[in-house]
Parts: sequence; structure tokens; C-alpha cells
Amino acid sequence: MGETYGIEALALDVAEVVARYSDDRQRVGAIKPSLARWMERQEGLRPEHRLPCEGNRACGHLLHTASDGSFFMISVVFPPGTSSGVHYHGAWGVIGILEGEDEETKYARADGLSAVGAGQECELEKTGVHHFPPGSITHLLPPDEGFHRVRAAAGANGVSIHILGGTAETHPHFLCDNATRKLVDFPMQTLLG
Ligand SMILES: [Fe+2]
Repeated sequence: MGETYGIEALALDVAEVVARYSDDRQRVGAIKPSLARWMERQEGLRPEHRLPCEGNRACGHLLHTASDGSFFMISVVFPPGTSSGVHYHGAWGVIGILEGEDEETKYARADGLSAVGAGQECELEKTGVHHFPPGSITHLLPPDEGFHRVRAAAGANGVSIHILGGTAETHPHFLCDNATRKLVDFPMQTLLG
């Protein structure tokens, strides 16, 4: 028997949603049921997509890139206790937790600035801490819901699937640099193993 709802089938449904809605909030809302369906059996995700990179390093694995560059899908693996650091996504995203437990801390810009870019001060307010067991689905909706920090909170690898606007090259992504407390460019490409 072939796959009934694998990565490519999920990607077809996401492409349809992206074509139908230009509004990010509508896109995210309409993608969630398709992701939930895929998460029931997680078909097409290879064993290596659930593993960290060399040296037990947190990293992402590219699963799919839309031919028109409108979205891409990656699995992300955080070994126990590791964290992403505080970072910003400048495009929409839907995230499903597959293994372990994700602790997600959400932040917002205290100054309400909507144009987020490298070189700016981080100056963030914590807006919530969430614990997501496997089966949970969360989202990114910049600028207000674009900042977060993810930590593997269980004693096992934290594995999640991310469906993100753009491509690994174009998805705007900035890290809050601990030393300077300023945002630095942090291309998704550098996270991929
Ligand atoms: Fe993130």
C-alpha cells in the first residue's frame, strides 16, 4: 500500500490554502486541520528527520519547498535541554509537535514597532509560556506573534514539523543576540542539516 496522506499530500493541501487565502491568519487557520490530519500517522517523515545533527546539535531537516517559493516544510529537532534562543519569524508559520515536549515562550515588541529588522534592539515583553505535548499545533503570525523561544522541556528530543511562509532562503528570521541584545540576521538555511 502507498501512502494515504504523506508529506507531498499535505504540501498539496497547503498550496491550495495559500492560493485561496492571501490573509496570513486565514492561511494559518486553514492549514491547521490538514496538519492535524497528517500528524495522526506522520507518513513520509523518515527516521533521520527525527534526529539531531552531527554532535547532537539542534537542527532542521528540509522536507518540502513549494515550486513557487510560497512555503516550505521542515522538521526541527532539539536535543533535551537545548533551546532556540529568542528569535523572530517575519512570515507566517504553523508548527506541530511530534515528539518530546516543546516549551514555547512568546514575546512581543514593547515599542509596538511593526517593521522588524536586523540591528534593532530586542526590547521584548514576554506574553506567554506554553507547554506543548505531542499532537499540539501552534502558529506564528508576525509582527505581533512573530517572536518566540523554543526549548525541549522533556528528557527526550523535541521533534516538530514547521510549515513556514517563503523558502529557507527568503523566510525572514532574526535572532536576538545575547551579547548585544540586538537582532541579527539568522537565515533558516543555516539551521538545516
Ligand atoms: Fe522559531
